[in-house]
Amino acid sequence: MELCVALDLPSAEENLALAGSLKGHDVWMKVGFRTYIRDGKAFIEALKAINPNYKIFLDLKLYDIPNTMADAAEEIAKLGVDMFNIHASAGAVAMQTVMQRLSGYEKRPLVLAVTALTSFDEENFQLIYGKSIDEKAEQFAKMSYENGLDGVVCSAFESRAIKEATSDEFLTLCPGIRPFGEDAGDQQRVATLEVAKNEKVDFPVVGRPIYKDTDPSEKVEKILEVIASL
Ligand code: C5P
Repeated sequence: MELCVALDLPSAEENLALAGSLKGHDVWMKVGFRTYIRDGKAFIEALKAINPNYKIFLDLKLYDIPNTMADAAEEIAKLGVDMFNIHASAGAVAMQTVMQRLSGYEKRPLVLAVTALTSFDEENFQLIYGKSIDEKAEQFAKMSYENGLDGVVCSAFESRAIKEATSDEFLTLCPGIRPFGEDAGDQQRVATLEVAKNEKVDFPVVGRPIYKDTDPSEKVEKILEVIASL
């Protein structure tokens, strides 16, 4: 498993201070919508300047017509980030167009698909997608696998079933991880690192349990020790 730290603090200064305090650890950094819209390319460059070994996951969840998504994917590749995501519901043609456009890059970023947003309840999900969350999430995961994506964003509790329906090599990135059973906050279902390992999660995403800790660097160190021991 490779730890992915969610940089969800409210300003560039706070996020860069957090990244600075963690620079002794070669972890993944998740850069979200708000940060990228506000702080842009300069923020990515600042992160890399802090630690060139930081791997960057740009969590923008692209959704548009295939050509526009491929144009955006190409710009993301030029930024030098290591992973980004798209909405699976953009469809098979969008997936193929994105992957085809990136195939020209010697070192292309990994591409993940978002299956079902975890903020949906069953009723509202059905209204849009016409199927249960579980059923659709697996269908979206298979579609992503068949169209050449590298993996999906999903709950730790869906990770094993998705790998069984696709391949063990198909990556799962899972938010809602509480390494040592910390406060769940607004997450509906949370998993510890042991559970994540058991469910074959590749990238556990951790935000609040790290940045709300009095010593984020020590917390990351403890998390990495546990991951290494599993
Ligand atoms: O603070 P916490 O560890 O709950 O942060 C989880 C991160 O993962 C946040 O950046 C959140 O937006 C993101 N995320 C999520 N659930 C999803 C997709 C992304 O919690 N389904």
